Amino acid sequence: MRRPYVAGNWKMHGTVREAAELAGGLAAQIGQIDNIDVALCPPYTALSTVSEAIRGSRLRLGAQDLHWEKSGAFTGEVSAGMLVDAGCHCVIIGHSERRQFFGETEESVNRKLKSAVAAGLEAIVCVGETLVEREGGSTLGVVERQLAGGLEGAGCDLLTIAYEPVWAIGTGKVASPEQAQEVHGFIRAWLGRRYGAAAGGIRILYGGSVKPDNIVSLSAQPDIDGALVGGASLKVDSFSDIVRGSLKRI
Ligand code: PGA
Repeated sequence: MRRPYVAGNWKMHGTVREAAELAGGLAAQIGQIDNIDVALCPPYTALSTVSEAIRGSRLRLGAQDLHWEKSGAFTGEVSAGMLVDAGCHCVIIGHSERRQFFGETEESVNRKLKSAVAAGLEAIVCVGETLVEREGGSTLGVVERQLAGGLEGAGCDLLTIAYEPVWAIGTGKVASPEQAQEVHGFIRAWLGRRYGAAAGGIRILYGGSVKPDNIVSLSAQPDIDGALVGGASLKVDSFSDIVRGSLKRI
């Protein structure tokens, strides 16, 4: 009932030319793949170029962040309307790197979510615990706090959640399928209390060192509906393999 969804978070990597090559290569490899949603989230500088490169394919364009205001004196920021204008279909919100390095809070996540959805963007809201929090036994409490604050007063149309344990991001330490499923199941139950039956349709992606060799076992878990991929989304072959792997259920 939930269509698999894989998004590539390119982070702060690549020139415009490299972005065009990567997007063009992906459009050729997986541009017509069916039964799955695939989004590419390049840096702002490459949005228009990637939009052009994936035109005519089924790939979608996404951004890595936004500001909640529509326009104004906010130097360095980009609004939801501007992202739509640049061809974006979705936007990542509350990535742990934004929380850790750029002062992102539950409140700013909440404002960004509402602004994105109001503009018609699909929002991928990221949650996840640090290693200290996991070892201290507070994983579910942290995730609950991030969900409650980030989603306060927001509906679930256009909402996707990404569970990304901070200790698994860029470290090569992937959560085991069982560890990930435990949190995904918790998130699904929380969404069920908040949104009722509609929660069954909300996609929950896993992120953190996803690779072609672990995507199949992760995707086999009942509440894992796809992946948010960082490092492995920067190569045509590895990202294409992840997209194909996420369609397989074992
Ligand atoms: P990674 O990053 O796949 O490089 O671990 C995931 C993410 O930060 O979204």
